[in-house]
This record gives sequence, structure tokens and C-alpha cells, in this order.
Amino acid sequence: MSVSTAAVDQSVCAPLSVLGRDVTVPLVTGGDVTHAALDYAASAPALQRVWDDVAAYAPYYGSVHRGAGYLSQLSTDLFENARATVAEFLDCRTSDQVVFTRSTTDSLNLLAAVLPADCQVFVFETEHHASLLPWRGARVTCLDAPRTPHEAVETLERALAGRDPHGPALVCVTGASNVTGELWPVRDLATAAHAHGARIVLDAAQLAPHHPVSVRDLDVDWVAFSGHKLYAPFGSGVLAGRADWLQQAEPYLAGGGASRKVTRREDGGVSVEWHESAARHEAGSPNVIGAYAIASACKALTEAGFDTLVAREQHLIEKVRAGLAEVPEVRVLSLFGEDAPRVGVLSFVVEGWNSSHFAAALSAEYGIGVRDGLFCAHPLLRTLLGTDPQTQGECGAPEAAPGEKSLNAIRVSFGAGTPDEHVERFVTAVRELITNGAKWTYRTEGGRCVPAV
Ligand SMILES: Cc1ncc(COP(=O)(O)O)c(C=O)c1O
Repeated sequence: MSVSTAAVDQSVCAPLSVLGRDVTVPLVTGGDVTHAALDYAASAPALQRVWDDVAAYAPYYGSVHRGAGYLSQLSTDLFENARATVAEFLDCRTSDQVVFTRSTTDSLNLLAAVLPADCQVFVFETEHHASLLPWRGARVTCLDAPRTPHEAVETLERALAGRDPHGPALVCVTGASNVTGELWPVRDLATAAHAHGARIVLDAAQLAPHHPVSVRDLDVDWVAFSGHKLYAPFGSGVLAGRADWLQQAEPYLAGGGASRKVTRREDGGVSVEWHESAARHEAGSPNVIGAYAIASACKALTEAGFDTLVAREQHLIEKVRAGLAEVPEVRVLSLFGEDAPRVGVLSFVVEGWNSSHFAAALSAEYGIGVRDGLFCAHPLLRTLLGTDPQTQGECGAPEAAPGEKSLNAIRVSFGAGTPDEHVERFVTAVRELITNGAKWTYRTEGGRCVPAV
């Protein structure tokens, strides 16, 4: 995957318009400030364009697939066109299927449910739990965290070498880490998988909002992503890729929409013929607005141009990295080395600070929304922190005295809607908090730090 990181002309590259950009939040120290949403890796704000498209469609909303009325037919067309738009966005093969799901988690659980019998699954321990856990019903091999992209490919090759190349196997890999933001060598991993008769699914939850994803170029068998991380927070996700395993398996959910014909048998039972199309795994009433919103986001990002979006994001990443590099108490977490290519996601620890306390102060005193904890990637955090991580810490009690290891981390993440001011404010806040300490006092409530008002 080649991406341009050329210098940006800021005048032609303003952030995309997102909802919430003018929302103000109160500071504990007095006054209001516009909220700096720097937790895109969890959920990105809706693109204004997506919101407008959904609002324009809303009066025409109708049930899809089974309604005879005009609005049902219109909604059915929009739903099926959304599939085509997603297929184009992902540069799918013509034979691929696009299934609308609820999220990346749902997509990967769907794939896990259709694995052929005796399928072996290979997954790195560094994955988000959504990529790590769905395969537990299969024969799973969990691979050690690699320290370079090259080592990732070597590790996979070694693991695959011993297996029966005729038996089914699946490799699951994340395109960009939700913790370090680092890009994984997806194409090389796909080559290694295919050379050993295995298939590969790409968890593009963090990649798709930041980079073009081409199923053909990357040569992956499936891709999964979530609408709410792609500026379309209307409850939909996608699993796109090879049709055969999907068509051969029992439906993910049994019910209306997935079935072509249902008959009562003479023995009192019920027989059913399932659809072979994507509808097989979309039983129940589909989330047409969610699908339409994803399609709208795909179009908006494509029209904005990924070269431009990537260049702007790299400019923001450099600002954050340069700012954090000036603070010796901050350690940015990385598997592949600090200079490894990444998307706008960085996690770090602050010597002497409890991460929850630090994140609470960023919010309460600066109006900055980041995330702290273990980011649903416990084994990866264990490797990065070099200690047994903990989701929570006692507020105020420094979790890591100088020289000690941190028990969890802080994550800052941003994207197409982030103005420079948000990352500048963040860098200033980090420096001020470390130099001067928090201005307010905080207490622990439900395992989290909150301002002691
Ligand atoms: C890399 C990665 N994969 C999967 C997921 C799960 O996404 P969702 O919660 O939308 O199912 C996330 C969420 O943070 C993620 O970062």
C-alpha cells in the first residue's frame, strides 16, 4: 500500500466538516471551550455530508425488500446501491459479496460463524479483541507480537509452514493498530497466507477511515469495518469479500429476509431454502439508514481524495509527535519503532501519572476528549508496557513512580475532521499538566478519575 506523505498546502486541505465542531463544553476551572474530539479511533464524529444525506433521505425512509409501496422500492434501491458503493470503495472483485452487519465485531463474528469445518485460524496477539476473540470455536494459533513488519511476515510464514496446505485456514490481521496506529504489512501477509493455502481477513476498522483499502491490491479475501469509525455513526458495519464460505454456511441469523422458501414438512418440521446472496446473513429488517450512511461516507472520502486526507493527517501526526518528543516524561508506545508509518492514532504513558487521572485532567481543564485504559487490546498492552496491565488505577495515586512501569495508557486519535487547533491545544495541555500539575483535584469513582467537584 503506497501512501503519499508529501507536504501539505493547508489552504487546499481544510478539515472535512463534521458534526460537533462548534460544541462547547464547560471547564472545571471556569468558562467554556470548544470540545476537541481526539478519540476518533473509538468513534469518529459524523461527517456533515453524511448527516445531510441521511436527513434528506429520512422522509423517504421505508421498509426494504418486501414492501410494495413507492418508498419501500426507493429504500430497497438505496440499500442495494449502498452495497455497490461499498464494493467500489473497497475495490472488491466482481464476485465478492458485501454484507451489512452492525460493526467490525459483528462482521468478524459472522466470518467466524461460517468457517469451514476444521478451519485453522492464525491471529497475532497484538489484535484488538474483536479480531482476537471470535475464533475461539476454531483451532486458533495465537502468534507472538512481532517487532518489525518483516518479522510479522516471517512469524506468519513459520506458523503456516507446518500445516496441511489442503485443509482450510484463515489469517486475521488488522490493517492499522488501534493502539499504536502503526500500519501492518497486509499485502505481504496476504501473499504469505495464500502461498500456504490460507485465506486472510483484514480488520480495517482503523485503516479504512484513514487510507484507501483495495481488496484487489492488498489481495485479501475479506475486509471488515465499522460505520461509526468511518464518520457514519448509524449502527452499521461491513463484511465484504469471497462469497463461497458465506454461501456454504448456515445463515448467521435465522429468520425472514435470509430465507427464499420455507415449507412445513409432513413430519411436522420446517424446511427452508436460504438465499445465496448477501441477504443470507442479513436476516431481519436491515438497517437501511446505517447502510446508506456508510455509502455516503465512502463517497465523501473518495471525493475529498485520500491523497489529500492522508497528507493532512500526516501533518497532524508530525505536530503531535514533535510536541510529545519535547516532553521527556512521555513515552509513545510502538511495536515497530517510533518512525514506523502510522495513522492518526498514538498511545503514550506519562511517567509518574495515572493515565485515567491525566485523561480526566485533559478533559476537565482543557476540553480535550482522549481515551485511557487498555483499548480492548490487553495482550498488546502487556507487550508494550512490559507489565501486567490494568484497566483502572487509583486516581491521584501515581500508577508509575519514576522508574516504574505504567499499568495502562492514554490514546489520542484524530482524522479528517480534526483542525490543527485541537492537536495544538493537546500538545500544550500535555506540557502544562506535566510541568505545573493538575489545577483541580480528582477522585476515583467507579474505577475512573473524575473531578472532585
Ligand atoms: C482495530 C479494531 N478492530 C475492531 C474494532 C471493533 O470495532 P466495533 O466496536 O465497531 O465493532 C475496533 C474498535 O475499536 C478496532 O479498533
